[in-house]
Amino acid sequence: MAIVAPDVAVAGLRTHQEETIVPVLPWSTLFAVGVQEIDDQHRKLVGILNRLGEAENDAAAAAMQNLILDELTEYTILHFATEERLMQQHGYEASTHHIGEHHHLVDAVKALHARRAAGETLPFDELTTFLRDWLTNHIMGSDKALGLSLNRKGVY
Ligand SMILES: [Fe+2]
Repeated sequence: MAIVAPDVAVAGLRTHQEETIVPVLPWSTLFAVGVQEIDDQHRKLVGILNRLGEAENDAAAAAMQNLILDELTEYTILHFATEERLMQQHGYEASTHHIGEHHHLVDAVKALHARRAAGETLPFDELTTFLRDWLTNHIMGSDKALGLSLNRKGVY
């Protein structure tokens, strides 16, 4: 049987001793890729993800999850369109691989939507961990490379 200390802060959960919420993914300047439009959108995506983490404790958690996931999906699509427009405008050399990663996430999110449509309430841990890891890896890898390339072409 797992024993959990009552004051241990778990990502996205309130601690028992105080009403603070530990964000799923705290924003860090390390995430900055050096292009304002992309960084602003990443910050907003991280904010939506953190709201999803907070919703776990909400009385109407399932309804909140649906609303926030829809918002996250919509904003992610808009964000990918922004990055792909910048790639095209500036002749980004690694666009095929990068856009492939975007498609991969969109497919994964569609699969989540299908599960919800089938009446399943998705486990918050599974959702937040998947989205946090994807976002972190993508920003720190492909998006950093895109940012550097755009910077070299004078885009900031
Ligand atoms: Fe990207």
